[in-house]
Order: sequence, then structure tokens, then C-alpha cells
Amino acid sequence: MTAAIELIDVHKSFGHHQVLDGFSLRIDQGQTWGLLGPNGCGKSTVLNMLCHLISCDKGQVNLLGMPVHRLGLDVRAQIGFCPQRSALYPDLLPAENLLFFARLFGLTEKQSHQRVTELMHDFSLVDFSSTPVKHLSGGWQQRLHLAVALINRPTLLLLDEPTSAVDTEARLAIWNLIEKLRDEGTTILMTSHHLAEAERLCHQVALMRNGKLVAQGSVADLLARAPGQAVAKVQTEDVSTLTQCATMLGWPIRHHGGATKLFVPSHLNLREILDALDGVKITSISLHPVTLDDAYLELVNGEYVP
Ligand SMILES: Nc1ncnc2c1ncn2[C@@H]1O[C@H](COP(=O)(O)OP(=O)(O)OP(=O)(O)O)[C@@H](O)[C@H]1O
Ligand SMILES: [Mg+2]
Repeated sequence: MTAAIELIDVHKSFGHHQVLDGFSLRIDQGQTWGLLGPNGCGKSTVLNMLCHLISCDKGQVNLLGMPVHRLGLDVRAQIGFCPQRSALYPDLLPAENLLFFARLFGLTEKQSHQRVTELMHDFSLVDFSSTPVKHLSGGWQQRLHLAVALINRPTLLLLDEPTSAVDTEARLAIWNLIEKLRDEGTTILMTSHHLAEAERLCHQVALMRNGKLVAQGSVADLLARAPGQAVAKVQTEDVSTLTQCATMLGWPIRHHGGATKLFVPSHLNLREILDALDGVKITSISLHPVTLDDAYLELVNGEYVP
């Protein structure tokens, strides 16, 4: 099957700053993928490249089997893009923005008005009919952004952090909408900083770091790649003794955000862990199953050794 999205050994620098460093990814038609990674790792650069807003220095960027710089209008008309930064016209009303993009995609006047009415309703934007976009809150602008990306009923949708600024209710509404598009067979590539979001919405996840792909698979696959399936969070004033002890036991130890955690064998209970750490002055300890955040930190920080 022809890939919906294919990036092969893509390199991109802005001046002396190399942003993509041999990035490759293949996404089949009908799949929903999450692209995750730390701030500045190159996620938006990948999406902007897929829309041919910027070009690569080296490598191949293909949509539906064609290089993006050679796509005809027929293929372009199948793509929806929700950029990270607003591409809306601030002085226009929500419906006027939608209408503008509908006409840009070649919808007739009648089709355009029908589609705009549908989207204004689907995104609960009707209450803001007479509010210029510049006076909408960030979250409502984000909803309108997504509505604009859907104006042409795309079969391939690129979403750059579609829920970053919205409240819980709007996030759930956007999740429902993305799930509906996913279940209808739309190919979706979305960036996110939330593994829980990716877990709920995406078939597959790609993790980036420093312009490279560092891991891909289902969220469950990524979880399984953590160096242990149970984690003990430990507070101690004697981190060096804890580190020595954990090293002797062969338990990977990590320090994140002021907390120390140990990947411990999952068959051990808290009593057995405390016995094994005998000699370490422990202030508090708690035991929990490995989380998506634990797996993410392992993979993007490169501490995982296959
Ligand atoms: N047009 C540009 N000119 C110069 N530098 C750029 C340009 N676009 C992006 N960059 C730089 O490229 C790097 C990657 O940026 P990009 O926006 O792709 O990251 P990101 O992974 O989307 O980050 P975030 O999670 O913060 O959105 C950053 O260091 C950014 O400053
Ligand atoms: Mg970005």
C-alpha cells in the first residue's frame, strides 16, 4: 500500500542550527499517529514540511507517494492542516474566516455556506458569531482553527498541538471529534505533549529527540520498553547511599524534577524493597506501576539501553 505520509532521511537546518537530522517516518493510510518529543525537537518543522511551507535540505518528503513539491491541486485539496500558531484573520468573524478558507478550497458559494453552518454548529461557535477572532479566547481560537482545518473534509489531517490551549471540556470535545475522524478512516498525524492524549487517540506514536526518531510503536509498546514495570519513588537525604545500593541491586535509578525513582522488579512488595534498601535512610517511599511519563522520559532522555 502507498504510504499516506513518508519522510526518508530528512535533514533541515535553519542557519547553523540543525533541526532535523536524518528523520524518517512512514504512516499508512487510515492510521492515526502522535508525534511527541520535547520543545524544540522539530515536530512543527516536520508538519510544516509536510504542508510544503518549508522544504528540506536533504531527504524525501512524500504524501500519498508523491514528493510534496510536486503535489497536484487534487491531492492538496485532501489535506487539512491545523498549525501551532494561529493562521486566522483576527479582524474577521469566525464564520467569515471559515468562509474564506472554504472559497480558497474551491467550494461553491452554496457549498461554502452549508459547510460553514455545519462547522459553526459542530464546534459550538454559534454563540460567538458576532465576535471578531481577535476577541476570542485562546481556546476558542483553537477550536476555530480546527474547524478551518476540516473545511475541505480532508482525508489527511495534520494537527499541531490541537488541544494545547483549551479547557477540559473543549479538550474532550476535540478528542471526540478526532476519534470520529479517526474511526471514519482519516489519516491523522498530530503532535502533542500529552501521552495520555496520544494513548487515547492514536494507533501509533513516534517519539522525537534532537531531530531524530528515537522510538515508535503503540503506547503499550513504549510502556513495555521502560527498564522495569514497577517504580518506587523514594525520598532520602542520602542520595549517594541510595544510588550505591540501587546500583548493587541492578535497579535503574533516575532523578527527575527533584524526585528519585527506582525501577524495581515488579514481583517485590514494599516490605521486600525496604529490606533490599536496608542501610539507606529513607524519608518516604511509594510503589506504583510504570507510567507513560516514566516510559517517555526513558526514551527521550536516551537512558534506555535496548
Ligand atoms: N523558520 C525558522 N527559522 C529559524 N529557526 C526555526 C524556524 N522554525 C523552527 N526553528 C527552530 O527549529 C527548532 C525546532 O522547532 P519546532 O518548532 O519544529 O519544534 P517543536 O518540536 O515543534 O517544539 P514545540 O514543542 O515547542 O512546539 C527550534 O529550535 C526552533 O527555534
Ligand atoms: Mg511545535
